[in-house]
Amino acid sequence: MTYIIGMVSQKGGAGKSTLARLFARELAADDFAVKIADLDTQQTTCAEWAADRAEAGIEPEIQVQAYAKIETALREASRFDAFILDGRPHSSDQTMQIAKAADLIVIPTGQTKDDLRPAVKLAHSLADAGIPEEKIAFALVKTTNSQAELMAAREYLDQTDYTVLDGHLPVSTAYGTAHDVGRAVTETTHKSLNVKAETLAQSIIDRLAALAPKQEVA
Ligand SMILES: Nc1ncnc2c1ncn2[C@@H]1O[C@H](COP(=O)(O)OP(=O)(O)OP(=O)(O)O)[C@@H](O)[C@H]1O
Ligand SMILES: [Mg+2]
Repeated sequence: MTYIIGMVSQKGGAGKSTLARLFARELAADDFAVKIADLDTQQTTCAEWAADRAEAGIEPEIQVQAYAKIETALREASRFDAFILDGRPHSSDQTMQIAKAADLIVIPTGQTKDDLRPAVKLAHSLADAGIPEEKIAFALVKTTNSQAELMAAREYLDQTDYTVLDGHLPVSTAYGTAHDVGRAVTETTHKSLNVKAETLAQSIIDRLAALAPKQEVA
């Protein structure tokens, strides 16, 4: 069985490609066959990152391919244990296509209302279009060091019918620096940051596992 995971947001720079690389790296390190379909053909963030990673000889190698059309990408998905769709921002059409194809849709959001509101609005628009609420999950990314604000953000998201993933990625230059050299956010030089990223990746795995039995029955 192939798990299809979609990373989507309307806002740019929310953390889609960060989560795609994080999740791909963690699964690949556990010997799962995984590929990122980079659907942002203007930026090809993940594809270029994978080339940097390969050039630097970092293991495990991560497969990434840029695709203009989601249909082309999906034709290949069955060869993998996990197939990650990294979407582009500001594209309601593509976001909807990704959501329809995915077993789990992850929406990254910051902790301020400016970020939370559009994230929830996007989730609502997907649910309104018939995407099951249980397939939609928020990931808190680029959180600041205000614990009170982080808790308030969780409470705000908890009021919705969607999942809020455990763990969060605090704002840290070390994460950006890791990306710059072809590494994922679990591969920084700071153990505590790596552990935080691992928690978030594990939460995605746990959510997929929780959803899987229902889908097999369906
Ligand atoms: N926790 C963090 N701390 C610092 N920088 C981060 C963090 N998470 C992501 N970044 C950086 O923020 C930038 C945007 O992140 P990312 O590329 O994941 O967003 P995106 O949603 O894919 O953006 P786009 O909408 O442009 O595709 C990148 O430079 C990334 O390295
Ligand atoms: Mg991106």
